[in-house]
Amino acid sequence: MLRMFVISMSFIFILVPDLANSHKPQAFLDGVAGTSDEGPQIVEHFCSTCHAPSPMLPLGAPRMGVTSDWRARLEQGLDLLFKHADEGLRAMPPRGGCFECTDKQLWLAIAALLPMDIVEHKQILEDKTK
Ligand code: HEC
Repeated sequence: MLRMFVISMSFIFILVPDLANSHKPQAFLDGVAGTSDEGPQIVEHFCSTCHAPSPMLPLGAPRMGVTSDWRARLEQGLDLLFKHADEGLRAMPPRGGCFECTDKQLWLAIAALLPMDIVEHKQILEDKTK
């Protein structure tokens, strides 16, 4: 029984390298800090399980880059959107599960999730992710 468990767990770590990496979130975050694709990398590591276009966990999270999923959420304003990401909202875990993320890194991840055609919010995002 235990042997089966060990064998199946090692398969999971081979098949899902992200899961193995997520044991060292701080090292990962240090590694991507300041890179040009810091936000997208954080999303891939911490958020895409639920926010990818076809997520591994289908919990109804707004999909990355899909305008119609974000439209109503954006109408509440970016500050409230950030507050929900920070504190969690129903099935959305606090800070998207990235407790080691700084506020700037959380903003970078949110910016990477949002669709590109949100012209009216671009300036705010630029200020928050500077
Ligand atoms: C375990 C799944 C899960 C993970 C991981 C996750 N989210 Fe979410 N997220 C959700 C779900 C589900 C919602 C929709 C919540 C609702 O409205 O009921 C959501 C909603 C959001 C929203 C919109 C909040 C609002 O005000 O409408 C933002 C922003 C967000 N997530 C950012 C992130 C970021 C950034 C990460 C990674 C750092 C992340 N999420 C990781 C499940 C997840």
